[in-house]
Amino acid sequence: MLNKKTIMDIDVRDKKVLVRVDFNVPLDKETKSIITNDKRIVESIPTIEYLTSQNAKVILCSHIGKTKEKLTLEPVAKRLSTLLKRDVVFVDETVGEKVNAVVSKMLPGQVVLLENTRMTEKEEANDATFAKELASVADIFVNDAFGTAHRAHASTEGVTHYLPSVAGFLIEKELNALDKGINAPKRPLVAIIGGAKVSSKIDVLKELIKKVDSMLIGGGMAYTFIKALGGSVGSSLVEEDKIDVAREIIEMARVREVNLLLPVDSVVANCFSNEADVKVVDSGKIEDGWQGLDIGPDSINMFKTQIRQAGTVVWNGPVGVFEFPKFASGTNEVASCIAASDCISIIGGGDSASAIEACGLSSKMTHVSTGGGASLELMEGKALPGIVALMDK
Ligand code: 3PG
Repeated sequence: MLNKKTIMDIDVRDKKVLVRVDFNVPLDKETKSIITNDKRIVESIPTIEYLTSQNAKVILCSHIGKTKEKLTLEPVAKRLSTLLKRDVVFVDETVGEKVNAVVSKMLPGQVVLLENTRMTEKEEANDATFAKELASVADIFVNDAFGTAHRAHASTEGVTHYLPSVAGFLIEKELNALDKGINAPKRPLVAIIGGAKVSSKIDVLKELIKKVDSMLIGGGMAYTFIKALGGSVGSSLVEEDKIDVAREIIEMARVREVNLLLPVDSVVANCFSNEADVKVVDSGKIEDGWQGLDIGPDSINMFKTQIRQAGTVVWNGPVGVFEFPKFASGTNEVASCIAASDCISIIGGGDSASAIEACGLSSKMTHVSTGGGASLELMEGKALPGIVALMDK
């Protein structure tokens, strides 16, 4: 539960409010100017609308892409303006005289979006001078960038040293959903963890195993577990140096009487391609030259049985290479089963959120997080610096 002050705990009326949002939205590969998914912009609207209703002057800032890419937020200003049904003034600078001039002329209830905070290396370096200059335009700081809350950057953590700082509605919603889903769940609590590598999910596996009733493991990472149990996994992705960690997690599950389920069968391919030859085999009897790229039909049924009995499902990571239609059945069937069940469903951001969206099932989930890395770190039990820095209740 959020123990930090929110915009409801501070008087924002007629104030200049700097709002850190996460407008790091995907853009089309060719022109880098067409937004291909606006979920993060849509999710920022309640905070912005509340602030404008209070006659605040709303100064939005965000990063987009990596620092070396130097992408512009201009297309986001246009999309935001359409969604808000009001003008959004875009400033092609993040700090400095141009910004100061625009802000000094702002009217109550007006919305301004500053240029990408990652136009400078100072953002990721959490440079104090940059943070101070960014903060200097406002009276209050609102952090609503849940997706970036795991980064201690100038616009997420740095600015909090110079302004009264509170959380926005999206951060509050994300924290409440993830915290309740994991720490006060309707039981049985079933976690589905997938994705390519065990190495990126070790901490979340170890943390969740302490809390769940069942843990279903899919995706490429399952083969490191299957090998740890003595199975033959052919040419499937295996992290040899994580086999001991897999054994440790299997042992943790045994001691805690957690029902740890690995795919019993797999859709295997003779190369990593949607054009590959495929067949279904036992997950522990994969021949050399074949690699597991999706869970098989028996595993799908096994996972579905668990989902149907669940009070809460927490899902992080696809169970197959869903980007290739030939290996998307496992992920699609898991998504449809969760959507059809009346369990509480908490979907981590990143790939799992993209998979759910690709199936058109987002609206059937209790909560789909806007944060990939941030929701993973939260599930790992870590404190997020962008939230820690806000004022306590
Ligand atoms: C994300 O998309 O996970 C956040 O916007 C953070 O972006 P980053 O991983 O580039 O810091």
